[in-house]
Amino acid sequence: MFPLRVPLLVVLVSVALCQYYDYDYQPHSMQGPSGPNCNQECDCPFNFPTAMYCDNRKLKFVPVVPTGIKYLYLQNNQIEEIKAGVFDNVTDGLRWLILDNNQITNAKIAKGTIDKLTVLEKLHFSYNNLTEPVVPPSKSLDELKLMHNKLSKFPSGLLSDKENLTSINLQHNQLTSDAIGGAFKGPKKLLSLDMSHNKLKKLPAGVPSSLEILYADYNDIDSVGAGYLNKMPSLQYLRISNNKLVDSGLPAGVFNVTSLVELDLSFNKLQSIPEINEKLEQLYLQANEINKFDLASFCKHITPVNYSNLKHLRLDANNITHSSMPPDSSNCLRLLSDVMFE
Ligand SMILES: *[C@@H]1O[C@H](CO)[C@@H](O)[C@H](O)[C@H]1NC(C)=O
Ligand SMILES: *[C@@H]1O[C@H](CO)[C@@H](O)[C@H](O)[C@H]1NC(C)=O
Ligand SMILES: *[C@@H]1O[C@H](CO)[C@@H](O)[C@H](O)[C@H]1NC(C)=O
Ligand SMILES: *[C@@H]1O[C@H](CO)[C@@H](O)[C@H](O)[C@H]1NC(C)=O
Ligand SMILES: *[C@@H]1O[C@H](CO)[C@@H](O)[C@H](O)[C@H]1NC(C)=O
Ligand SMILES: *[C@@H]1O[C@H](CO)[C@@H](O)[C@H](O)[C@H]1NC(C)=O
Repeated sequence: MFPLRVPLLVVLVSVALCQYYDYDYQPHSMQGPSGPNCNQECDCPFNFPTAMYCDNRKLKFVPVVPTGIKYLYLQNNQIEEIKAGVFDNVTDGLRWLILDNNQITNAKIAKGTIDKLTVLEKLHFSYNNLTEPVVPPSKSLDELKLMHNKLSKFPSGLLSDKENLTSINLQHNQLTSDAIGGAFKGPKKLLSLDMSHNKLKKLPAGVPSSLEILYADYNDIDSVGAGYLNKMPSLQYLRISNNKLVDSGLPAGVFNVTSLVELDLSFNKLQSIPEINEKLEQLYLQANEINKFDLASFCKHITPVNYSNLKHLRLDANNITHSSMPPDSSNCLRLLSDVMFE
């Protein structure tokens, strides 16, 4: 099994490594009947003959892939083109295709290559020159990584039969809200969607209700639709930092849902603290224009059994100081272990 990385780790990895060196994990070794032939440009380890390593060797083309290969590593080359026929012997065998950090454009992907891969589970195609998404016909796809490309469109329905897709990475592209309308309908098991560093004006519409992680940092979002989060009863981690959120763009109680554990609204233009649910544990509001501390944002009723679960609160770089906290805050914010004002 491939353990689903805990979100904190996702944070650390994405911050520290930009989610780049992401293929450190190895598939478990498969017992092939006999080692397949290996393309002479690449290495196929004797004890792991279904994997072909062609990474880091200045390749200009995808080499012909021999029968039996299931895991194909082509990252960090100078590949510009995927020629017809290279996958002909693995169309119903290839499970992982790692193409990160090359220079592939859509126009140079021949017909009958990726569009013939029927059992692909992971497609890592980040740091390339794609302007449109590349999606194989495989219904088994579980990971689609297309970050750091030049995507400006994502046609509706492209993922409609991807019943096992759990994670989509589209950060650092040029996608607008119009361009992704209907893009995410279909994958009923989707857990994680990263749309950071794009050109969205609102949070993505029509995302599956299974979603647990939604990142939309660094876009042009100025509002969140009333009831938006009610359609995602499993959402735990929501990040909308570095956008253009203003108070008037947030309907009352829009973030007051019990599933959320972490909410990042830092680097926006909020002047007040939005209402949050008692279950929320981490709230990031640094670098806004907040000028008052309203305890009712955290607790509407304070009783021995009703209090906020908030543990970490950042309010630094706002127009507010520690003295703005009302004296009875500690009854509501009983679990707060870490609050930052400057
Ligand atoms: C592809 O399959 C054909 C038919 O089985 C075989 O003759 C050929 O050698 C294979 N090519 C590679 C590169 O594996
Ligand atoms: C890919 O994009 C990079 C950066 O924009 C550019 O320098 C390079 O020429 C492009 N390569 C191709 C094959 O389009
Ligand atoms: C989806 O995943 C389940 C559980 O791992 C598996 O049994 C099923 O065959 C997969 N579906 C497809 C189309 O690969
Ligand atoms: C959040 O919603 C619940 C249930 O609808 C409500 O009782 C509570 O007062 C709200 N909390 C805040 C801080 O508005
Ligand atoms: C207060 O706590 C009680 C008991 O846990 C719960 O039934 C009630 O819904 C809570 N009220 C609010 C406003 O959260
Ligand atoms: C900051 O808060 C003070 C005191 O509430 C107020 O007088 C001042 O106008 C505020 N400044 C800004 C930039 O909102």
